[in-house]
Amino acid sequence: GYLAAVANQGQDSTAAPALATASATQTTLTILYGSQTGNGRKVAEQLAELGRAEGRVINLQSMNDYKPKQLAKEQQLLLVVSTHGEGDPPDDAIGFHKFLLGKRAPKLDGVNYSVLALGDSSYEQFCQTGRELDERLTELGATRVAERVDCDVDFQDAASLWQQAVLAALPQPSSNDGVAATAEIVPIGANNVATFNRDNPYAAELIVSQKITGRQSSKDIRHVEIDLADSDISYHPGDALGIWLDNDPQLVEQILEQLQLTADDSLRQQLLTEFELTLLHPGLVKGWAELSVCDELTALIADSKALRQFVTNNQLIDVVTRFPAQVTAAQLTKLLRKLTPRLYSIASAQSEVENEVHLTVAEVAAEHDGQTRLGAISGALARRLESGDELRVYIEPNNHFRLPENDATPVIMIGPGTGIAPFRSFMQERDSRNASGDNWLFFGNPTFTDDFLYQVEWQNYVKSGLLTRIDLAFSRDQAHKIYVQDRLREQAKELYVWLERGAHLYVCGDATRMAKDVETALLAIIEEQGQLDSEQASDYLEQLRQSKRYQKDVY
Ligand code: 2AM
Repeated sequence: GYLAAVANQGQDSTAAPALATASATQTTLTILYGSQTGNGRKVAEQLAELGRAEGRVINLQSMNDYKPKQLAKEQQLLLVVSTHGEGDPPDDAIGFHKFLLGKRAPKLDGVNYSVLALGDSSYEQFCQTGRELDERLTELGATRVAERVDCDVDFQDAASLWQQAVLAALPQPSSNDGVAATAEIVPIGANNVATFNRDNPYAAELIVSQKITGRQSSKDIRHVEIDLADSDISYHPGDALGIWLDNDPQLVEQILEQLQLTADDSLRQQLLTEFELTLLHPGLVKGWAELSVCDELTALIADSKALRQFVTNNQLIDVVTRFPAQVTAAQLTKLLRKLTPRLYSIASAQSEVENEVHLTVAEVAAEHDGQTRLGAISGALARRLESGDELRVYIEPNNHFRLPENDATPVIMIGPGTGIAPFRSFMQERDSRNASGDNWLFFGNPTFTDDFLYQVEWQNYVKSGLLTRIDLAFSRDQAHKIYVQDRLREQAKELYVWLERGAHLYVCGDATRMAKDVETALLAIIEEQGQLDSEQASDYLEQLRQSKRYQKDVY
């Protein structure tokens, strides 16, 4: 899963129009969020709702849309920010974070603030961005009115406590026409049609999960089609699909057997539907080490790098098999995290496929002691599910990955591996709209013969003229590796011409290596072709980002 949050809420002035008059005398509560997956946005929106119900005047914005120079004028400032990768801010917080931590940040003596940090404790730099913003605000003279809360992946409870704490800590709104009036004015339920979401997913049928990599391929990549039938679910190119799926019954049986708990039906049910079994986290391994007294495990948890590696390469079943322990069901479930849905970038456009949704999914699989460990959903799509089986789904909108509004605007798409998915959606959409803008695709994968995903479709788009250019990087078809960023560099001149013509630039796929290397290549190209120094080149790219012409969907 990837995902940048829905921003573009802009100045949140539509929610309570009649309050505008009363607001002149009231302090505005500014809520800013930086969010990669949409969780931060959700928490910020909830907070805004709670604040409004108290009669507060709320300014809710994405950090990306907020002018940080205004900070000094704020009196009440609440930040919700996630951290991803190795301690990095989410894309929509990069500019804000840089400004605040930089030398030009203003004194903030009059500002009352608090920070909610979202993160994943399996990373060493847990909640790093939230921590940095929190410390820096104090350093700049702002007053922390409530302690920062660091939330783990299962964030909702901790987030709710923080929401209550901050609203209690800030002075209550003074107005007399606040609370009662708001309840009537705020158009809650104006859009009250039943919609499906994370907590209320739609039970969809799998149409097909077809392998689209060749027999010699190193990967099993699936083209997946799901039927939205008469659900009325609609989505936009760039959105993701959230999928909930119960755990593999065979895996659950293995775990129960290993723990000698096969007689416990209620545990069986919980392991099937409630708890995460395939993704490990360090807390679980540490907790398990206390239950299973084992020197090897004690040594492992003392070495954070080794632990990190162990956690990425193993599953719960490996832990309970390799380090046996006599535990009760309660001791086990106390260590487990809640099962979460997985997000996949959508590979189709409804203008083309109507009430279907398509995905491009790579199977996550690893061999361990002669056994195959599979990703919860990708494994099921590759090996377990059949046409007609049920998946619970919902749309996770992504306003940070959108085609240009103007159909004449050129687009450059960089999507190696399964990163190709949203660009199939983009091209279907542009095709059906008869969009006149040029389209340039960079795709990479190991080999031409086995890994050219959707080859025929791209060839047809080239023939029809929709796809202006396609540049391919088959990394293993020659003695040395060739990657998409090498193709970008080869096309530096033309690429810069496209950018100067106003092209939008999209990157989708692997975040840890590819997207970083692509960004380095882009900076080098801009520097060279624009005859800029490195700082000017990074300003150029930042400018593209700010104007939503450089968008990433990376995971
Ligand atoms: P490789 O596996 O042959 O090294 C999709 O996974 C494609 O991305 C593959 O061809 C893969 O090549 C390639 N790839 C691996 N690392 C990459 C990187 N740092 N930047 C761009 N592409 C990369």
